Amino acid sequence: MVVRRVGPDDRLTTSFALSAYAFEPSPLSPSRTAEFPRYLTYHQGNRTLIVEEDGTTLAAASAIPMRQNLRGAVLPMAGVAGVATHPLARRQGHVRTLLPQLLDEMRDEGHPLTALYPFRPSFYAKFGYVGLPKPRTVSFSPADLGALLGADLPGEVGWERIGTGYPVWREFTERVLRERHGFALFPDYRDVGLRDRDERWLLTARVGDRVTGAVTYRIDDHGGTLVADDLLTTDPHARMLLLQFFARHVDQVDRISVQVPADELPELWLTDLAVHVEARVARPDGSAPMARLLSLDALAGLPAGPGRVRVELTGDRWLAGSHVLDGSTGSLELLGAPGVPPVPAATLTAAGLSALAYGVLDPVEVHLRGLGEVPPDAAVELRRLFPRRVPYLFADF
Ligand SMILES: CC(C)(COP(=O)(O)OP(=O)(O)OC[C@H]1O[C@@H](n2cnc3c(N)ncnc32)[C@H](O)[C@@H]1OP(=O)(O)O)[C@@H](O)C(=O)NCCC(=O)NCCS
Repeated sequence: MVVRRVGPDDRLTTSFALSAYAFEPSPLSPSRTAEFPRYLTYHQGNRTLIVEEDGTTLAAASAIPMRQNLRGAVLPMAGVAGVATHPLARRQGHVRTLLPQLLDEMRDEGHPLTALYPFRPSFYAKFGYVGLPKPRTVSFSPADLGALLGADLPGEVGWERIGTGYPVWREFTERVLRERHGFALFPDYRDVGLRDRDERWLLTARVGDRVTGAVTYRIDDHGGTLVADDLLTTDPHARMLLLQFFARHVDQVDRISVQVPADELPELWLTDLAVHVEARVARPDGSAPMARLLSLDALAGLPAGPGRVRVELTGDRWLAGSHVLDGSTGSLELLGAPGVPPVPAATLTAAGLSALAYGVLDPVEVHLRGLGEVPPDAAVELRRLFPRRVPYLFADF
């Protein structure tokens, strides 16, 4: 049995074949199988490892070289996808072998962060990942946006197919990447799939030359639903402009649905807006994402409050040792523990430290969830260093 990296020439017969069985309706029709070579280009820069025995692929896992905003710093992030084991080889430890090796390689290549969408969170919790919030789906009737129809708003909207508007979209998402905590983007070779499929409209809000908001959407039928993807806006004007455009569909669609970050409050958008906001988490499909730090390099220099604490990192392959985290300068510094005067101390697992860095758990919750031992004095310091934030992963893989 060997573990090896596969490239473009053997993806189709190895990792693609396993992924097809794991994630698609099957047996596959010949016409579906014939489509696969076209997808190779969207995987070209992925790192894919397989477990192979006598020419049979027993398991596969891939990492997409992405970028993610962690508290304002844009860092390389390994997006794990296509984790699958042959149905006759499951529960034999193949992914237990493969995943750490894949993450070793991504970390060595300079990815201090990793994220994924789990089929079952407890499976990836064993590898140090912690849950991130799921975006909310907001739905309402276009009739309830009527108040916006006559509103005089600064700026204008642009409307085109994503196939032509893609460069504007990509540039705008690059800007959101720099500004929004948790936001992650695909590499170019993967992202252009959105342009090439050309199955969405692109709506943008603009003030002069500046794009201030964007959303992609499709309409499923006359009298049906306008299904929008993520509503990305940099200010309330932009959101109003985009909603005003949707309001003009009052005689065309019955409902509008749109994705928003978990901290968005659509019930405050307008008076008399009857709105349904939902996050449904399910297994194995429809999971909330998970993420973790692969290296402490991710923390150095992040904006931080004025706390000081010693953390002992435990039980992990990548995050270990004793470190003093200091935020007294306004940005996080990691000091070697020896020589530093005594400070409150906590023991953290990789998931515990990741939960704090991503801002998803309070130090007391880290303790209660069994992700560390956090005495009350250390909790105070950790809370100062890592104020709660709501990450918004955006990319779906
Ligand atoms: C999920 C899947 C990838 C697991 O692969 P595998 O090679 O069978 O996993 P391993 O044998 O290496 O198991 C690793 C650990 O997870 C546990 N585990 C395996 N499958 C599990 C499951 N479905 N639920 C909970 N734990 C599981 C194993 O017991 C093992 O635990 P241990 O390290 O404490 O002994 C495989 O079953 C599969 O291909 N499923 C269909 C596709 C899929 O869902 N992929 C995941 C996409 S995110």
